Amino acid sequence: MSRYWSKVVHGLTPYVPGEQPKLANLIKLNTNESPYGPSGKVLAALRAEVGDSLRLYPDPGSDRLRAAIAKRHGLRPEQVFVGNGSDEVLAHVFNALLKHAAPVLFPDVTYSFYPVYCVLYDIAYEQVPLNAAFEIEVADYARPNGGIIFPNPNAPTGCLVPLAEIERLLKANTSSVVVIDEAYVDFGGVSCVPLIAQYPQLLVTHTLSKSHALAGLRVGYATGHPDLIEAITRVKDSFNSYPLDRFAQAGATAAMDDEAYFSAMCQKVIVSKKTLVADLQGLGFEVLPSAANFIFARLPGRDGADLAARLRERSIIVRHFRNPPRIAPFLRITIGSDEQCAGLVDALREIVYTSLNK
Ligand SMILES: Cc1ncc(COP(=O)(O)O)c(C=O)c1O
Repeated sequence: MSRYWSKVVHGLTPYVPGEQPKLANLIKLNTNESPYGPSGKVLAALRAEVGDSLRLYPDPGSDRLRAAIAKRHGLRPEQVFVGNGSDEVLAHVFNALLKHAAPVLFPDVTYSFYPVYCVLYDIAYEQVPLNAAFEIEVADYARPNGGIIFPNPNAPTGCLVPLAEIERLLKANTSSVVVIDEAYVDFGGVSCVPLIAQYPQLLVTHTLSKSHALAGLRVGYATGHPDLIEAITRVKDSFNSYPLDRFAQAGATAAMDDEAYFSAMCQKVIVSKKTLVADLQGLGFEVLPSAANFIFARLPGRDGADLAARLRERSIIVRHFRNPPRIAPFLRITIGSDEQCAGLVDALREIVYTSLNK
């Protein structure tokens, strides 16, 4: 606390990201990173950026990258906005498009950064409960609002809202922006980007942190009607004209162009997920259906925090959320490599059959 702080700082409860431990030899399954490195073409593009041009500012509009993203999704560059991770993109979206008199709506169990942005930008919000199966029901969003946002698949549950339901929501909700956060869509979901052509109120955000294995590069983007993109760009240009450095622009452009590597890595994760789910079910876990690169699982009768702590003693880190209380029994587990998943299953088997019974 300091008397020099502005009023808003006193009221902030910042987002707490998953831990990035400095220890070696961990099985790190807590922040949904890719277990595989980025494409060789990305690494070559990054190396090519090392040189004299670093004395110059990067392109403030990230034109090459926006063109590459537009091409990948069959859009025009003016339908694309890029930022320093989708967290930054989302921050600008809340400020530019979701700050209205009516409250913004999002699920009660979802990405915990959303309420943080609301407090930062003084945006009223309402949390809409998931149904008993931990799913988003779009009909529950039929109420006055200043905007709607949720991840699809949702985080941390992994549950997917079918495309037809998203379209139903868009048909019913035309007077405010609907943001679909597709951070995890590449691992088993269907993107709603094609709906942008019909629905000017739809904004879809993406990240290169998960399916492109580039969490360290910090690149995210939003796609939508040019009017929506202009609003976010105005905020960005009033905040930081150069959010993406030269490495981020070069690496992300190469990643967009290497569709073959991207698809192969996503496929590997999807296959590993299937095996991990079956193995955990074999140990008695209940696993929510996941279209993401993580699963949300609980062992009936066991405490989630205790399981996470016992895994940690065995150098395995997963994510546990205490709130809201109904998700406290769950662990959110990133799909690692097959070797990492096997290490997790061995540790859980030992915990379930040995130490829990002591
Ligand atoms: C649902 C969701 N959206 C957005 C992000 C932000 O991703 P990034 O800032 O790495 O692009 C995350 C990160 O975990 C997430 O889970």
